[in-house]
Amino acid sequence: MAMHRPSLLPNALLVAVVVSSVFAASRMTAQAPRVGPRVFVADSPRVYTDSQAVQGQTLWTKNCVECHESTDVTGADFRTKWSGQPLFTLYEQIRTTMPDGNPGTLSREEYAATLAYILKLNGLPPGEAKLEPDSVALTAITLTLPPAPPAP
Ligand code: HEC
Repeated sequence: MAMHRPSLLPNALLVAVVVSSVFAASRMTAQAPRVGPRVFVADSPRVYTDSQAVQGQTLWTKNCVECHESTDVTGADFRTKWSGQPLFTLYEQIRTTMPDGNPGTLSREEYAATLAYILKLNGLPPGEAKLEPDSVALTAITLTLPPAPPAP
């Protein structure tokens, strides 16, 4: 049987592919966010305003704290469950089930403000634009929670 002799061309192509994927890998490393919650938080999209979160805190105190501690919406279980989900999923879950036994008693704006406060509790930074109670807008936002919330 004749020895298999690969021609020069496929070898050259292989080298080119290996070099370009090494290059791509190093670029990906350079672009990845540096480790650590603070850097991660600073890189987060700003999807609510600070005044909205202040309003949300009042609503949370009035309607939610009789049953919840803030750790219910910042703890490891919560982050694992909701991080990576569209924000609309969490919004709808709250709007259609909370306050437990009395769902839907807040206006949509009030649910959005309460959700803004929950995002703030999780260390996500405020920005210039309000979180609108709009299904399309909320679906477009993927909730990305920091690995751990900041110390209170
Ligand atoms: C009367 C008690 C009660 C009140 C008031 C209440 N909740 Fe809840 N909430 C619960 C219970 C009980 C659960 C767990 C339900 C379940 O897992 O099926 C829950 C679950 C949740 C969850 C899901 C947590 C998770 O890990 O997925 C969120 C978010 C939430 N509540 C937000 C709110 C908000 C916001 C308010 C105020 C607008 C509120 N709740 C008011 C009792 C309450």
